[in-house]
Amino acid sequence: MKALGTLEELPADYLSELARANLVPLWPSLRSLLPPRAPNTATLPSHWRWKAIRPLLLRAGDLTPMEKAERRVLVLANPGRGLENLQASATIYLGMQLVLPGETAPSHRHTPNAARVVVEGEGAVTVVDGESCPMLPGDLILTPTGQWHEHRHEGRVPVIWLDVLDLPLMVYLDVSYAIEGTPQQARPAEYAYPAGGLAPLAHGRRVQGAYPLLRYEWQRTRDALQALSGSCERGTPVQLAYVNPETGGDCLNTFAFAALMLRPGEEVMLPRVSAARVFHAVEGNGEAQLNDTAINFEQADTFCAPGLASVRLNNRSSGAPVFLITADESPLQRKLGVYEQR
Ligand SMILES: [Fe+2]
Repeated sequence: MKALGTLEELPADYLSELARANLVPLWPSLRSLLPPRAPNTATLPSHWRWKAIRPLLLRAGDLTPMEKAERRVLVLANPGRGLENLQASATIYLGMQLVLPGETAPSHRHTPNAARVVVEGEGAVTVVDGESCPMLPGDLILTPTGQWHEHRHEGRVPVIWLDVLDLPLMVYLDVSYAIEGTPQQARPAEYAYPAGGLAPLAHGRRVQGAYPLLRYEWQRTRDALQALSGSCERGTPVQLAYVNPETGGDCLNTFAFAALMLRPGEEVMLPRVSAARVFHAVEGNGEAQLNDTAINFEQADTFCAPGLASVRLNNRSSGAPVFLITADESPLQRKLGVYEQR
């Protein structure tokens, strides 16, 4: 591609006349807006260590009462995108949230979609549009766009989880806002999906509504990965997608979630895809090679790979499996017609 003219080549009086008329020449910016063959991204392969996060988050519990925080969160920010922008990738926000025994994060709803991956503790529930979702380590809990949600904790130990939101996207689109609510009347989940391929019938009817399943229990996900690993060739990722059980589609509009198992001693290459991805280690320690960046991750660590990154994952343990939960931007990119695998 040939080089184009620059701003410096233009006379100062011409530039100031343009600025006075709110006009900008395109050609000096054209190559950075439409770079050859691959996008520019500010997202860097990044790693957030649980060992660093946990004590700082617990300290936030001492420093800032819930009334002053509403949501007591430390944001996992990608240094490549500027820490102050609170982004893991162009569209993914990640935050580690703490609720102490007896506390409630009050009811609200907002346009951004959210999902939680529970990291530590027991005794808390997230109430989503009235449905009570117990929070146990490894559980994935959805709070889709527009649904009321609050977090209550009547247990005895701190509860911590990873929030995954499409907040940067919604802010970019000028559609991000929240509405405060009052405490919800909580009821247990109305429908229980007892096993894959079996959908409950209530009064002869299938479940209505866009989000029939809000809580994906970790123990069942883990068992399913173990079962699948028996029939998966080594080196082929043992991977399950979190789907809407009524449609088989992605569980949220914008992000896809999956669970991945690395058997002892196993190495897998993931396909190079245009969507940025985040990984959270639910169990086990391992290595990740993200482009030129090598990461040694431990249980409860989180890391991210930019779009089109090459991703190699390794479990060097001879006896223990590694379990990861991943989130990526593929549903959003598919809807826009820009998703690709190279
Ligand atoms: Fe929220």
